[in-house]
Amino acid sequence: ISRNFSISTLTRAAIKNVTVVGGGLMGSGIAQISAQSGHNVTIVELNQEVLDKTHKNIQQSLQRVAKKVYKEKPQEGENFVSESLSRISTSTNLADVVQNSDLVLEAIVENLSIKHKLFKSIDDIAPEKTIFASNTSSLSIGEIAAVCKRKDKFAGLHFFNPVPVMKLLEVVRTPETSDETYEKLMAWAKAIGKTAITCKDTPGFVVNRLLVPLMAEAIRMLERGDASPRDIDIAMKLGAGHPMGPIELADYVGHDTNNSIINGWHEKFPENPLFNPLPFLQKLVDEKNWVSRLVKDIIVTRNNFLYNYC
Ligand code: NAI
Repeated sequence: ISRNFSISTLTRAAIKNVTVVGGGLMGSGIAQISAQSGHNVTIVELNQEVLDKTHKNIQQSLQRVAKKVYKEKPQEGENFVSESLSRISTSTNLADVVQNSDLVLEAIVENLSIKHKLFKSIDDIAPEKTIFASNTSSLSIGEIAAVCKRKDKFAGLHFFNPVPVMKLLEVVRTPETSDETYEKLMAWAKAIGKTAITCKDTPGFVVNRLLVPLMAEAIRMLERGDASPRDIDIAMKLGAGHPMGPIELADYVGHDTNNSIINGWHEKFPENPLFNPLPFLQKLVDEKNWVSRLVKDIIVTRNNFLYNYC
């Protein structure tokens, strides 16, 4: 009896139906890996046009995976793509789809009041069991959760770009996230093939807390004329074993993004010198000398931008 009970409890506990809100760069990757690993996924976006684009991006990405993984067995590759796609549906009506959702994972624009509006709109109507999570990179999970009653069922799930490739998932607990929620999310992380680490709700969690100040100090080095951009990157690649130097990384992430993260943290924690604003970066952003990360065909230009600028 106890065995049956625990199996049924486990079955009920598992996250099977996932709603991904936002089908951009991160949301499409999250939806893809969830579907690939056997979960039912619904992607919610602002309009059908974006949803069609998201669906096409996921299809192409799955085809790339199939080509690599099922090189010798093209039929199995085709099945993998069609089965994964069959688990993905799309909607523009979040209120409708949350009714059947074990997990609502938000990957929309990085703006606290827009995220608040979203979670507030579903807190009262989502089933009691439904867990809410945010993929925010730089906002506080507790502050996002503040508008919800289900604070025990709220956590951060921080993925890395590109989601299908990067192995890490940061599972962020606020003081109010329950053990049950945390354990369900850790089990889900494993089920989608990620290696999860746990972190408190602190600025940047683990990875960005270390990387953003590194990029910031590299930019300060440029400002001071301590070393050239190329030499800073070569130093960190050959001297510290980093796969990408901090200047190239800053270009890859985007100067606009880095600048708003640093400024946001400085506003909240003005006493921390690691988060001091970067006049040089601000100048680049003001001059619009940065390139949107979504414009993939000019990524080569952007990756060499700081190299050429300095
Ligand atoms: P993105 O701009 O590529 O995608 C955001 C999508 O959300 C857009 O397609 C937009 O139409 C949609 N959207 C906006 N408001 C919405 C709403 N109310 N309902 C439904 N859809 C809505 O942005 P990206 O890069 O995917 O980032 C999303 C989130 O993930 C942000 O919170 C960001 O901080 C976080 N993140 C980003 C990483 C990155 O490398 N880009 C890495 C880790 C986290």
